[in-house]
Amino acid sequence: MGIIGNPVMHTKSPVIHNGGYKKLGLDAVYVPFETDDPATFLELAALLDMKGFSVTVPFKNDIIPLMDGLTESVRSIGACNTVTRIDGKWIGENSDYTGFIKPLINDFGSLEGKNVTLIGAGGAAKACLYALKEEGANVLVVNRTVEKAKDLAIQFDTEYVGLSKENLNKITEYSDVIVQTTNVGMHPLEDINPLEFFPLTGKEYLYDIIYTPEVTCFLKAGVDKGCKTLNGWPMLLEQGYRQFKLFTGMDFPVED
Ligand code: ATR
Repeated sequence: MGIIGNPVMHTKSPVIHNGGYKKLGLDAVYVPFETDDPATFLELAALLDMKGFSVTVPFKNDIIPLMDGLTESVRSIGACNTVTRIDGKWIGENSDYTGFIKPLINDFGSLEGKNVTLIGAGGAAKACLYALKEEGANVLVVNRTVEKAKDLAIQFDTEYVGLSKENLNKITEYSDVIVQTTNVGMHPLEDINPLEFFPLTGKEYLYDIIYTPEVTCFLKAGVDKGCKTLNGWPMLLEQGYRQFKLFTGMDFPVED
């Protein structure tokens, strides 16, 4: 097993997967493959008889036309981060959206009928929006570039507004949960809270999918007001556990 991307050598995924193989005593290894060409990599993966591999930036879209089959989630999200080999066929999956939603449901509870603000309209936001809609949430897409918010909202039949103080009332309507999916809060933007203009009351649940830093400016503002918060670590682990299950057929050994 392994992960393809470019760059990819910094990824934490091998630590997760190899740690699981070791704990279970499996004769398996998970290796980062830095490549320019996912099609050539697929030939190598077949030669090595790989059970599957993870896919990261910039290949989450490029890998899709190379697959023999796709899950419904990959079709809807338009991104594939997991490839498995079933009866010699390459199947594209997405474990980012399950990784995102599971920790939120575990901590917050059911999202059915909840009003959720989603900040961002990029690839990460799309996987999160797919998951939130599947769980029955009412979602408001909020993005700096309003046209991108509109494109995403139309695809998923939700509302949208621009990321600005003028839209405070609308965002307040959708503030049971506020999800932050942009790179604002991560180096070199670690001193910025994209929702700085929003007066938190302490009742909002804040979820930032960033995991370094563990507490972004956005989450810190929530902590200061007494909001419950969640960062991106459980999401990173969950998406890895889901891939582990797909690659090995076994549950990740979470407990020692
Ligand atoms: P990813 O796949 O990680 O989601 P992406 O597709 O490049 O990355 O999307 C980046 C997101 O971060 C976008 O929603 C982007 O907003 P724009 O559509 O307006 O570009 C958002 N973003 C990046 N820098 C930002 C900033 N300084 N302020 C607000 N939003 C920002």
